Order: sequence, then C-alpha cells, then structure tokens
Amino acid sequence: MSGLGVVKGRDLSKKVRIYDTTLRDGEQSPGISLTVDDKVTIARMLDALGVDCIEAGFAASNEADRKVFVQLMSDGLNADVYTLSRCVKGDIDAAIECGLRHIHLFIATSDIHLKYKLRMSRSEVLDRIKDSISYARSKGLEVMFSCEDATRTDYDFLKEAYSVAVQSGASVIDIPDTVGVTMPAEMYELVYALSRDIGVPVAAHCHNDLGLAVANTLAAVEAGAEVVHTCVNGIGERSGNASTEEVTLILKLIYGMDTIDLSGIDRISKIVSRYTGYPVAYNKPLVGRNAFSHESGIHVHGILNNAATYEPYSPEMIGRSRQISVGKHSGAHSLKDKLSVMGISFPDSSLGDLLEEIKNLSVGGKEISDIELAAIAENLLWRGRSEEYVRLDEFVVLTGKNVTPTATVTVTVDGVSKTCAMTGHGPVDAAVNAIRAAMDNRISFEELRLESITGGSDSLCEVTVLVKDTVSDGHISAGKAVGIDIVDTTVDAFMQAINRDYARSR
Ligand code: KIV
Ligand code: ZN
Repeated sequence: MSGLGVVKGRDLSKKVRIYDTTLRDGEQSPGISLTVDDKVTIARMLDALGVDCIEAGFAASNEADRKVFVQLMSDGLNADVYTLSRCVKGDIDAAIECGLRHIHLFIATSDIHLKYKLRMSRSEVLDRIKDSISYARSKGLEVMFSCEDATRTDYDFLKEAYSVAVQSGASVIDIPDTVGVTMPAEMYELVYALSRDIGVPVAAHCHNDLGLAVANTLAAVEAGAEVVHTCVNGIGERSGNASTEEVTLILKLIYGMDTIDLSGIDRISKIVSRYTGYPVAYNKPLVGRNAFSHESGIHVHGILNNAATYEPYSPEMIGRSRQISVGKHSGAHSLKDKLSVMGISFPDSSLGDLLEEIKNLSVGGKEISDIELAAIAENLLWRGRSEEYVRLDEFVVLTGKNVTPTATVTVTVDGVSKTCAMTGHGPVDAAVNAIRAAMDNRISFEELRLESITGGSDSLCEVTVLVKDTVSDGHISAGKAVGIDIVDTTVDAFMQAINRDYARSR
C-alpha cells in the first residue's frame, strides 16, 4: 500500500478538497428530513473534521434551509458553505439573502434532459449559464458550476457549456455522473480532457447506481480532479453518492493524501445514521458493525498475534476499535483472551466445555455479548466437573394460551429410570413438578432467581435455583445455569442443584 505519487503524469501530492453534500444530495434521499438543528449540528461536525466545503442545502427551496445557512454563516465556519442553486435569478437571490459567499449553480446538458425535462435548446442552455453565472458573480458570489448529467452529455457541447461557465466567472467546474453509469476509465478520460480543455479546477460528483461512485471519484482524482463531492455514509439520491469516509480514507491510505481528520469518521457516521434514520449496513466498509469484528478462530488467532493479518488498517485510525465477537465460529484463543481482558482466568482444561456451550447457545446466529460470555464462563467455573447422579434423559413441556401447562420428564436416578407427567401454573412450574415427582418428592423447590443478562429480547438469562432436601437434613443446595430459554435454563439449574444435594449426601 504505497502512495502512488504520480499517475499518468498527474501530480498526486497536491491537496484534494472535500466538498461534502450530505446535507443537500444526502438529504434528498427518500424519507430523510433533517431539522434545522440536525443540519447545523452535522455541519459543525463536518467543519470540525476539516471538510473544505459544505453544501448545506438548497436556499431557494425551503425556509428551513435558509435558517440553516443564516446560522452557519454567523457561526463563521472554516469550511466554505455552499447552496445548490438552479441557474435562475430567484435562486441566486435566495443565496444572497442568506449571506452566502459560495454558490453551486447547475443546469442539465444531456440531450435527454434537454428534451424531456428542461424543454430547452442547447443555445438557450448556454444563455442561461452565461446569464446566471454573470449575475452571481456580479453579486460577489464564488461559483462552482455543474452540467447535470455531464457524463451522458455530448462531449463537444459539454466542453462548450463549461467554457461559457468559466468565461462568465465560474471558478470550479463540477462533473456530475448524475445517474451513476460511468466506468472509472471513462471518468478518468473525461476529467483529464476537461481539465486540459477548460483550465480551471475540476470537481467530481459521482452517484452509486452501479456501485462505482467511490471508484469513479478516485479515477477523477487520478485524472487531476481537485475537488470531490461526497456524502457521509454514502447517502444521496437513489443508491447514494461516493461516501465521505471511504474516499477520504482511500486518499490517505493509497495515495498518501491528507484531507479530513479521519479519527472523527466513526462518530459522524453514527450521528448521520441516527439523524437520518438510515441504518448503516453491517458489512459497510469502515463504518459497518462488522468492519473490525473478528469471530472465527483462525482469524482471531492471527489478529491476536498481529492485527495486520486480517486488518488492512487499524480501526483506531477512523475512531473505532477492534471487536472480537463470540459466536459459533469462535476458537479457544479468542475466548481465553477475551476472558483474561475481563479479569477472568479460565483454565485451559475447561476451554473445550466453554466452546461447546458457546456453540450451543449461538445457534441461529446469536452473538454472545461480553457480559453473557462472562456469565457463561463463571457459571462453568462454578459448576466444576460435578458428577451427574440424577440425569434428565427426556424433557418436554407443552404450554400456550388456554392450555394447561404440562411437562413430561424421564429422569434416571442411580441407574433407575422413571417417566412422569405433571401440570403446573406455568411451564416452569410444570417442569419442576414433573422432575420432583420422578424423584418421589425428596427434593423441594425453594427459590428461583432469574436475570436477563443484557436486557434484550435475545438476551441469555442467568437462573439460580435453591432446593431443599426434604428427607434427610433439610439442607439447601444451589444450582445455576445460563441459557437462552427460560424454561430450559431453569430446569438445567434445578438439575444442578439436585446433583449438588446428591453429591453432598454421598
Ligand atoms: O447528481 C447531480 O447531478 C446533482 C447535481 C445537482 C450536481 O446532484
Ligand atoms: Zn447528485
């Protein structure tokens, strides 16, 4: 992973400016509606990260965005604050009224947009570009100009449109791949040609319809683009835009370019996800839940020896930390390591039992949390390797609405097997009654303590049962178990307590 320095004669050591449009293109995603406060908070965070330009909305389109702009201008951010604007006087006036100094003017240039959307001729479009940019410039605005649908626009006309824009005063030309259909090699060619033919800094605005937004953005940088449009978490119209976090990390890792403070990436991703209500896919690069999560024994073994075995960069770089998860793929190394971090010294001799217990409990893909792992391990340690004098061979319980809970058990005591069925007030009660009956009621059930370990609906529960020996000395014995099912786990703890009582009296 070396900084390339120069690609096809282009100097990659110069700074690329990050133009974040989370609050404009990102907010245009269906179902997202940010409040003024949400937008101001996100913009301040972006500014703190060192984003160069923030497109915070569309001043002409709504009052809320105008309030955002007024607030951001009075904040005095380091970033240049842009509004999107059509090439119409009213939109430009709205930007001026908000006190903005930067404007992103756009108009479509592809034939399909001219014919079916704008119903304008090419020369009318050129006039509109000239008039609007000249007007914005006359009011002191710095102009970035986009030909919407640039990548599907006839090259000669595209060149003409951008030339008119620059002659009229635009200082940056942006190339939107509006419907995300361009291939990286084509994006490279286009940016290369326009940089050569137009002569002002070029920006790239790539959509992700074919999953190529980040690749196209980087191809644009390789071809000389000096500004990249991105959105946090890759949100944006339809399948979104190039993601701010992926682009900035790759610029650093692969090209050696510093852009924003990468250590704030995780935090802003979480805030944007929470405010927009758009979840981040578990497997999303950088910010997905699994990006630094390791479960399989082989991987964890490698990671514990040297994290670079399975991590291309360190999670701390983007404000995250590594997660060794516990589940059915876990290996002994990871369990032992995790427990020792939690201060539990677990004997190697019992690791096999622990692994088996974890595998049983994680059926259906359940991930075992740290406190659940601690409870399982401590329970195993507590149990030790006690003898099983009383064995539960079969257990079935029938319960439901308008059904009398009924349990059937087969219990073997000292080699003699007995089957009993009993009813109860609930499934636990029925099970306890059936087991007690199979043991001629020589044990009474004294107390049940039940705790949900994480509190979630898929939480493991920890059950403690106290039993009394009714035929000998009335001694109280305790049993403990950890499991996913309340009835099963209670029965397990009950059997533990019974066996402890038997062990004592042997
Ligand atoms: O995707 C696009 O073409 C846009 C423009 C408004 C720049 O978002
Ligand atoms: Zn867009």
